[in-house]
Amino acid sequence: MSTVETDATGLGAISRGADRVSVDDKAMINARADVNQLLPLKYHWAWEKYLAGCTNHWMPTEVAMQADIALWKSPDGLTEDERRMVKRNLGFFATAESLVANNLVLAVYRQITNPECRQYLLRQAFEEAVHTHTFQYICESLGLDEGELFNAYREVPSITDKDAWALKYTRNLENPDFATGTAAADQHFLRDLVAFYVVFEGMWFYTGFAQILSLGRRNKMVGIAEQFQYILRDESIHLNFGIDCINQIKIENPHLWSPEFQAEVRQMLTEACELEVAYARDTMPRGMLGLSAALCEQYLRFITDRRAQQLGLAPIFGENENPFPWMSEAMDLRKEKNFFETRVTEYQTGGSLAWD
Ligand SMILES: [Fe+2]
Ligand SMILES: [Fe+2]
Repeated sequence: MSTVETDATGLGAISRGADRVSVDDKAMINARADVNQLLPLKYHWAWEKYLAGCTNHWMPTEVAMQADIALWKSPDGLTEDERRMVKRNLGFFATAESLVANNLVLAVYRQITNPECRQYLLRQAFEEAVHTHTFQYICESLGLDEGELFNAYREVPSITDKDAWALKYTRNLENPDFATGTAAADQHFLRDLVAFYVVFEGMWFYTGFAQILSLGRRNKMVGIAEQFQYILRDESIHLNFGIDCINQIKIENPHLWSPEFQAEVRQMLTEACELEVAYARDTMPRGMLGLSAALCEQYLRFITDRRAQQLGLAPIFGENENPFPWMSEAMDLRKEKNFFETRVTEYQTGGSLAWD
């Protein structure tokens, strides 16, 4: 057993002569083990996701925007409804990526006391920066009103409602004195993981993905659609990392996952689904591109049940049919094989995606 004093940040005094770290000392939260020692690995799933994130590296500037610019500037390139949907989408994502990133580095990172998970969080934080960069790049390319885009989260009620809901949960952790270690504090932390990983990244991005990818499938705004496809690929790993974190914390701290707490999480998912349905109606008051608010609602109920299942909870809506099966295919991008290298040193670039 280690004699190292608990040091959640990893920046405390060095314990000279302490016992070496053993795998059994490692834990997701409230660990006794030194958080600066990556090896020996305990959570191989976290390390695998770090490697997968690196393999998927991309930059928004690798994607050509000429076709999007021409279509956006052409007076009859898009319908008014399509323009409204694109602007609402960009407005939501432009700040959503930043909210997720700030929660990650200012709330989540401090409380996770495991180096391989922190390694993934550092990779994820960079990916969120790449995603924010994407919206800067789109704004600049299309010549959009940056004030309108970056203020949408304060000015468009269906966006404000979602962001305000999530921010309640990070605010629990905002106090610099907040620390895990009691059941109440540990449950605050779990709520934050549910709100940001499961809801924000695992539910609320999906209406936007479905809408923009539908445009891309019709050969409209193909540059943005390609960027969204890369973001979707990143986000599906972020979501799965969050689910693995929550489930591992449950295994190590079963007392936190009480029947009352499970009921609370199901209530969170239910509210989050309602907020997203309202957002889908607002972005798409009339049907378009083979999508309708009703189909989006069915899709969101399907996604919500899937998230409940991933957390080991009973389904909330009992929706078994996915009305957008093509969304699963869009998430399943393959990394291009490099036949000339034995080491994996290249990443998949923007030009390798094709629309069917
Ligand atoms: Fe992101
Ligand atoms: Fe993310």
